[in-house]
Amino acid sequence: MRKYSLVFVLQLLLHFVTSGLVRRCSINEFADTDKELQVSIIVSPVPKDNVARRLILSWENASPLSGDWIGLFNEEPTDLSIPLFVVQPHNPSGWAETTSHETASYSQDLGYSKKCLGFWAAYKSAGNSTLASSCLHTEPTWMSDLKTELSPLLLRQIFLPGTHDAGAYDRYNSSSANNLIVKYTITQEEDILSQLVNGVRYLDIRAAYYNDRNDVWWVNHGAVPIHPLQTVFDDVQTFLQNTNEIVILDFHEFPVGFNSGLAIHEKLLEYLEREFGDIAALSSLTWNAQLGEIWSTNRRLLLTYNNNQMVERSDILWPAVAHQWGDVHTLDDLYTYLSGVVNKHPNDRGWSAMAELTPTILQIITDELGGLRRMAGMVNENVTAWYRGTWGQTVNIVSADFFRGTGLVEAAIDWNHIRAQQLTCNIPQQ
Ligand SMILES: *[C@@H]1O[C@H](CO)[C@@H](O)[C@H](O)[C@H]1NC(C)=O
Ligand SMILES: *[C@@H]1O[C@H](CO)[C@@H](O)[C@H](O)[C@H]1NC(C)=O
Ligand SMILES: *[C@@H]1O[C@H](CO)[C@@H](O)[C@H](O)[C@H]1NC(C)=O
Repeated sequence: MRKYSLVFVLQLLLHFVTSGLVRRCSINEFADTDKELQVSIIVSPVPKDNVARRLILSWENASPLSGDWIGLFNEEPTDLSIPLFVVQPHNPSGWAETTSHETASYSQDLGYSKKCLGFWAAYKSAGNSTLASSCLHTEPTWMSDLKTELSPLLLRQIFLPGTHDAGAYDRYNSSSANNLIVKYTITQEEDILSQLVNGVRYLDIRAAYYNDRNDVWWVNHGAVPIHPLQTVFDDVQTFLQNTNEIVILDFHEFPVGFNSGLAIHEKLLEYLEREFGDIAALSSLTWNAQLGEIWSTNRRLLLTYNNNQMVERSDILWPAVAHQWGDVHTLDDLYTYLSGVVNKHPNDRGWSAMAELTPTILQIITDELGGLRRMAGMVNENVTAWYRGTWGQTVNIVSADFFRGTGLVEAAIDWNHIRAQQLTCNIPQQ
């Protein structure tokens, strides 16, 4: 009898301990611990008075009291710092355009350790105590910084920030800004190295072949060649040599020069083998590989390729990332489309929510939407809120236009941290 009770008591204890663990590991509680006051700085894609890189203050999870203010500073804020710009919050979260802008740095000067880029945001109470602060900063090492934590996650379980049409980048130039081609082909302000140093880990590439040019390989947006492909490759090489990060280069479309069967694809594969043969991850790993397996081979570049015959021929070409692309022209339609893919997406390979608007030909000709910069400005705040919120729980990749106008890099880092903890917690339940 006594013995029986002891076993019973032990079982009961075990029950409480395990249910305690399960309870502490529930998704909602993790999400709650993340609900702390945050301020950040976003770089607007939309120029004003011919000035680009205008800074936006963003805050979330605030409980604003009368007299609270959020300031933008050009130094790490102390009690004596004079703000460049001030806004009074009336809502728990919001964005406010400031009157300041960032001066562009050359990507090779950004360096490979996380650093502040000259601007700080602080949330202050009426009595001027700082309740939260942060700086505009790079994120060159966020994955390797979390290496121990992220290693058990599968490739398909991670949240990666991406750039739609990564190679269609150019700095804003007021003399060409009204050119329709510039307005509707340029999707990014930052070059590839800067995209990577700022935290992007998925690059959507459109490769083209021109046998009548000196440089035969180009990265295009549709029919328009933007940069030699070698420029993209050099930046990816530089970044991988200087960091321990994992990067996905997705050859998603081949808009010009690939029409003669597989011949040009074979040429491109030779080029890829020459460039990346030593560092490209083997596709036999699949999207069910843990990040730790990628790190242990030290082949940290995934080459994904949108041609199945080529994928079958090569051990360094992975199946293309599935683009969940709505081809929509309004914010509400983008919401409806992306809400539909939250629970309906491929599971056997990488997939990306394409979080940008696409104009129709007529909308381009009439310039109805004002260009891709303005269109990014129309959705980037909402896209950030969606993926900071519950959609960030399960998404694999989110690709945006003018990604520094979103908070996707920070959202991905926060969610990956939570996902890794959830994975650890789930072990006793299995
Ligand atoms: C708080 O800081 C602002 C901005 O620097 C300043 O104008 C104000 O006088 C300060 N208030 C107090 C109570 O120190
Ligand atoms: C800006 O565009 C004009 C006209 O296309 C060009 O001449 C100039 O070199 C460009 N400036 C920069 C800094 O790229
Ligand atoms: C977009 O964001 C604005 C401002 O926060 C909000 O009022 C609106 O409901 C959002 N729209 C969607 C579709 O998420």
